[in-house]
Amino acid sequence: MAADLKVLFSRDQIAARVAEMGRQITVDFAGEPVVLVGVLKGAAIFLSDLARQIKLDSSFDFIAVSSYGNQRQNSGEVKLLKDVDQSMEDKNVILVEDILDTGLTLAYLKNILLAHHPRSFRIAALLDKKCRRQQSIHADYTGFEISDEFVVGYGMDYAERYRNLPDICIVP
Ligand code: IMP
Ligand code: MG
Repeated sequence: MAADLKVLFSRDQIAARVAEMGRQITVDFAGEPVVLVGVLKGAAIFLSDLARQIKLDSSFDFIAVSSYGNQRQNSGEVKLLKDVDQSMEDKNVILVEDILDTGLTLAYLKNILLAHHPRSFRIAALLDKKCRRQQSIHADYTGFEISDEFVVGYGMDYAERYRNLPDICIVP
């Protein structure tokens, strides 16, 4: 690990929290099937761990949007790079995201997915930077609320680096 990165949440803390989120989703959907829609690429690791904690019939789909103009600042413009493969009509959709930051990305994706007329729509975000919100949108399932820090690891990157770190770390 790069020496200047400081651990914010350890792999054990993440695993415990993700297990709780999976249990909650399992209870809430009471035996109904769900579709987990991951936002590439940052949510890939979170989705793979969360999915294994959900004891329901579940399928996966993925969606991709344009990333930041530079590495740390959202340009404010969201562009769809890859749509879901299947229709979400009458499905229980859970949109799975690494971080809810300004909310621009998830507000945009929520509109796209609601246009499919899902049976239900929920958002699961591992991290929530509430203080940065520009669009009013909230996650139904949140792992951890964090302050305005830039973090990497567990799927999240800084200029495409550090996604494979097992812990979530702060970039100074
Ligand atoms: P939003 O549209 O501002 O909510 O942006 C959400 C996206 O920005 C997330 O899916 C991440 O890809 C990215 N992002 C926001 N904050 C961070 C961070 O601290 N580290 C890595 N990526 C981040
Ligand atoms: Mg992302």
